[in-house]
Amino acid sequence: MIKDIGVLKGRFLVFGGPYSNLQATEAVLKQAKQCNIPESNIICTGDITAYCGQPEDTAQRMYQSSIHIIQGNCDESLANDSEDCDCGFDENTACEVFADRWYNFSRQETSPAMKEWMGTLPFRIEFIFGGKKVHVLHGSHEEINEFIFASTSDDYVLSQINKTGADIIIGGHNGMHFTSVMGNKVWHNAGVIGMPANDGTPRTWYSIIEEKEGQIIFTHHALDYDHDAAAQSMIANGLKEYAQTIQTGLWPSLDVLPEVERHQTGIKRAEESFSIAL
Ligand SMILES: [Fe+2]
Repeated sequence: MIKDIGVLKGRFLVFGGPYSNLQATEAVLKQAKQCNIPESNIICTGDITAYCGQPEDTAQRMYQSSIHIIQGNCDESLANDSEDCDCGFDENTACEVFADRWYNFSRQETSPAMKEWMGTLPFRIEFIFGGKKVHVLHGSHEEINEFIFASTSDDYVLSQINKTGADIIIGGHNGMHFTSVMGNKVWHNAGVIGMPANDGTPRTWYSIIEEKEGQIIFTHHALDYDHDAAAQSMIANGLKEYAQTIQTGLWPSLDVLPEVERHQTGIKRAEESFSIAL
């Protein structure tokens, strides 16, 4: 399922992974409002329900919005009533063991109506921005759950972009925001709002993309929100490993991370911008 939304004008805000984190979801929508960005200029890269404590409320909030949302692997798994989240975690790793707990919680707490709605979300959104072709996808061109990181080789990332025929890819899934600029091609991952970026702070991440002075500018922004309330709702529901992460900003397991990203554990990330010429 591909949704073509035509030509997008003005600034737009991108975020990934609400992850059942209602407090962060409300905070990012408030932030968009403060920036005068309408919901029709907001894009979400999927995984509405995952690690946190309020899957149904978060899904309802997203459903009631007019945000452009693609289907992530967590959404697809719930829609299909699958036995696991299909996150791509290796067998018997801590990520897989913890996922069993939060996925089953989401599966139990999300209503049939919201699961059905998730199954109707497109896997890809395409649009034109500043004359460039933009594709929004969750993992990679071929796989909804493939991890593409900042450290993934340019050759591989470019091969993925070229297969899509787009100039700019907006990806999700991995929870670590980055922008890789390769000539006039870009892979941009806005990160997620539902879980910190393993940088030792409870902040989560979104981005704003705008056209200015002959350039397209991608800016990564940190989101401050009521992380105490998010953690409390997780603890109340037995999701303690990731409740700690919400507070400390450190992931409970680094299983999915390449060496480069592992070495960045606990190093506070700065807001930064990247650009390409129009
Ligand atoms: Fe995902």
